Amino acid sequence: SWTPDHFVDSAVQALQHTIGPDDQVILGLSGGVDSSVAALLLHRAIGPRLHGIFVDNGLLRQDEFATVLKAYEGLGLNVTGVNAAPEFYAALVGLTDPEAKRKAIGRTFIEVFDREAHKVEGAAWLAQGTIYPDVIESVSVKGPAVTIKSHHNVGGLPDDMNLKVVEPLRMLFKDEVREVGAALGLPGEILNRHPFPGPGLGIRILGDITPEKVDLLQRADNVFINLLKEHDLYSKVWQAGAMLLPIQSVGVMGDERTYEQVVALRAVTSVDGMTADWAHLPYEFLAEVSNKIINQVRGINRVVYDISSKPPATIEWE
Ligand code: XMP
Repeated sequence: SWTPDHFVDSAVQALQHTIGPDDQVILGLSGGVDSSVAALLLHRAIGPRLHGIFVDNGLLRQDEFATVLKAYEGLGLNVTGVNAAPEFYAALVGLTDPEAKRKAIGRTFIEVFDREAHKVEGAAWLAQGTIYPDVIESVSVKGPAVTIKSHHNVGGLPDDMNLKVVEPLRMLFKDEVREVGAALGLPGEILNRHPFPGPGLGIRILGDITPEKVDLLQRADNVFINLLKEHDLYSKVWQAGAMLLPIQSVGVMGDERTYEQVVALRAVTSVDGMTADWAHLPYEFLAEVSNKIINQVRGINRVVYDISSKPPATIEWE
């Protein structure tokens, strides 16, 4: 019968057999469960010949890059953190269309990743944290004639490097990936993390993206996520986050009239993200989040809660 320990043993053996003794392997790390588990598995098989590349696109959650990089280093992974935020912001200037933003982010990611990958001498393999549902999805994506939203973190790799692809998790479902991660000692903060889209806050800031807006949204999002954790609600929702809306509304602070931005909170329950229901979070909890955001995040004077299910709404607003 399937156990995570058996899976680890046989996957490590298979990797050691497949990957030549001098081959170097490159892997893009995102802070998500899949790429992190793939990294630990490969690290167990080939040690420092696994070269992780973790790109800060400037669209991650507050403090996420530093925290996750430190966690990776603590696990002994050979990982390079690349601060590429300015490059992403430059590519996004003036873009408001969601698909145009996704494409700019995807293109910039490939440029940055490609540049870093070329620095790894003897690179022969590109590892990916692809899991079974991704395999299914990329087959069925060829079906419909219309792309609803393009996912940027699939494919698009250094062509001229002639890398072979290795995907050690491609037969696993998400819950199995988590079990394998736990068996490999992945810390809970990464293991139980909500899904987070590749384009990050770039598709949660409606309209054009500026570093100031990213900062504003990071602070609001951080209040929401921390309170979910404090109230033991984080693991009860499948995904949660805040969206920065491109409108201002009138409020009052003391004797002053304010005219500031609106944040929408989104939290959903789901099994696989394909369908989702809005999470019926307690009113008292929502009140606390709203008060704290409005009191602490200057520039936001109104908080709303998204009560739309998927379909017909999507989880992300863009
Ligand atoms: P939607 O908004 O389509 O999202 O209901 C479903 C799930 O997919 C995530 N998502 C993305 N993930 N690149 C990603 O890696 C993307 O471009 C992207 N768009 C949406 C979303 O966060 C949710 O978990």
